[in-house]
Amino acid sequence: MAASIQRGRLITVEGIDGAGKSTHLPWLKELVERSGRQVWLTREPGGTPLGERLRELLLHESMAPLTEALLMFAARREHCEREIWPRLAAGTWVVCDRFTDATYAYQGAGHGLAVQQIADIDRIVMGGFSPDITFVLDVPPAVGKARLADGRTLDKFESEQAVFFERVRSSYLARAAAEPERCRVIDSTQSRERVRAAIEAVVLAAS
Ligand code: TYD
Repeated sequence: MAASIQRGRLITVEGIDGAGKSTHLPWLKELVERSGRQVWLTREPGGTPLGERLRELLLHESMAPLTEALLMFAARREHCEREIWPRLAAGTWVVCDRFTDATYAYQGAGHGLAVQQIADIDRIVMGGFSPDITFVLDVPPAVGKARLADGRTLDKFESEQAVFFERVRSSYLARAAAEPERCRVIDSTQSRERVRAAIEAVVLAAS
């Protein structure tokens, strides 16, 4: 009898804009690969042709917070159904740049949508599905802002003020505190090497 395939894991990486996700994501993918797994790196909003079109709208058009949350979840459902869930079922690990925690942090804490309303949509759209491991790269808004100041044009979210990112950051930290099994907060003001060592310890411990 063929051995049953072990389900893959979904690892998500979160944090305010400028927290350092892009520095670590390709490295994290390679880390998982080196441990002998198939791995797929993706992002939200995005990850499918429709999701990438929704991303364009979400990052550049002004819209009501509820509209924003609904489009985030629409892109997420498409991403899960077409790409993430089939891969996890086939044993592939998925590393995703942002996921549902970002909707609570940005549309909820950031743009003022009630947490209960997001939780209701989350339940309907995702049916309780959540990542296996979530890294929250934590930096104060001033540090995030300095890291974004690389000369390129900022998108709608990146252009928000420090108070917005204070709320987003607090939401991430509160969600991580409420789900310590799933979430690891990493002080991303540390050196790249220390951040990576902290991530590596968690990933290698995951069976
Ligand atoms: P980001 O992940 O920072 O990508 P890049 O590094 O390419 O700029 O950009 C995605 C933006 O989308 C980010 O500002 C946060 C926002 N976002 C939400 O507001 N809600 C969500 O549910 C998700 C997934 C992202």
